[in-house]
Amino acid sequence: MKHTIATACALMLTSQVALCQVNVIPRPNSVEISTALAKTIDLSNVKQIIDQQVKGDEAYEVEVTKHGALVRASSQAGLFYGVQTLRQQVASGKVYVGTIKDTPRFAWRGFMLDESRHFFGMEKVKQLLDIMAYYKLNKFHWHLTDSPGWRVEIKAYPELTRAGAVGNHSNPEAPASYYTQDQIREIVSYAAARHIEVIPEIDMPGHATASNRAYPAYCGGGSKSHPDFTFNPGKEDTYIYLGNILKEIAALFPSQYIHIGGDEVSFGSEAWGTNADVQALMRREGLKDLKQVEAYFIHRMANKVHELGKTMMGWDDVLDCKLPSTDNVVMWWRHDKPQRLQQALDNGFNVVLCPRRPLYFDFIQHDTHKVGRVWNGFCPLDDVYAFPSMQSPQILGIQANVWTEVISTPERLDFMTFPRLIAVAEAAWTMPEQKDYQDFLLRLEQAYRHLDDLHIFYFDHRSPTKHPEPLGPQNRSMNDFKD
Ligand code: ACM
Repeated sequence: MKHTIATACALMLTSQVALCQVNVIPRPNSVEISTALAKTIDLSNVKQIIDQQVKGDEAYEVEVTKHGALVRASSQAGLFYGVQTLRQQVASGKVYVGTIKDTPRFAWRGFMLDESRHFFGMEKVKQLLDIMAYYKLNKFHWHLTDSPGWRVEIKAYPELTRAGAVGNHSNPEAPASYYTQDQIREIVSYAAARHIEVIPEIDMPGHATASNRAYPAYCGGGSKSHPDFTFNPGKEDTYIYLGNILKEIAALFPSQYIHIGGDEVSFGSEAWGTNADVQALMRREGLKDLKQVEAYFIHRMANKVHELGKTMMGWDDVLDCKLPSTDNVVMWWRHDKPQRLQQALDNGFNVVLCPRRPLYFDFIQHDTHKVGRVWNGFCPLDDVYAFPSMQSPQILGIQANVWTEVISTPERLDFMTFPRLIAVAEAAWTMPEQKDYQDFLLRLEQAYRHLDDLHIFYFDHRSPTKHPEPLGPQNRSMNDFKD
């Protein structure tokens, strides 16, 4: 049976009524309200005060009386989130008299976009940042390099964007698409104004085919059956080349983090196994096998990141490299290998959780969908909402990853991202004891109106045919393009 907001609220206890009536996502963690204001408030006239009594880096308190609204927080981010809470109430047509006190469950509330496989451009990225901010997401992980295309201008190496930016996953001859350094700065400051940190990823030593096209001198080969070539870890010049790239990246992105990937390195017999430079490196450094070569490379590049004053991030593959847990953070992505998460925690790493299931949004979200990944199941909205069940002080937070092999148009990007990203926002912010999926679905009605206003082509879980699945050349794929 379908309840309206009013009937559903009427069925609940008084304290829950208060929560339910505030039509805000993510659901605030503490709400004491009475009646709705007779008329809405003027958002340009909200009083905002920095107040160190409000504890928590991103915490805020919103107080509404019949005379107006006041937001207090100990940081600009907190004030910003208090205003988002008011914006959503105003959009819903009801602003309640009373107090909301709120602080996030996780400091890392992330969204990753892969623009190497398909490129979406400035306006789409800005729109995504706007939506992230409205729902209090705060980390934009930008996957800017991979085998199909290199998407960030590097002044020292112009071929990276002249040759490396040509092509995408659908068409290897597509005209070059990339962000100039001015455009990157524009996005970074657009995000910062919305309290979003942009974390760049320069993937290495695998997923390097686009870079290799531009600068073959640093290529470490790859397997004929695998599209992802590598960098050559046996050449000193490779470290100079990648170090120079990271220097420009560090200057462009004020983020504390540089992500260096480290995933799925296809270094086998057709690549490093037969490479004379690598053999010489192994003899020189006493490395016994190619896994040790990989670890040597990751250590050197992590050190370069640290020399630039940054923290290194890597996919959970880097756990094999025996890095120290200080200044290095791991993203756990292999949902079928929970032992990797345990290993990261046991070894003292801070971790961001982004397991394929339920947080890879290139997986389908509904049984009827034809295009996207499945793996003994898929990533429906309720699974996304329920994540995570694990808790540890070392878990910085959670992140949705949008890989774009099967996402080549803005419509498909919208369709795969929404509404699941809104569920991530609530899962990342709202404490487990305040989460309630049925209540979330009621508040999602307002979020759908918001997405309609923005002309977002979301998947409508209430009416799966409202926005028909945008089909591409690909069909459902078990796991045929990535580990
Ligand atoms: C990944 O999905 N290869 C991190």
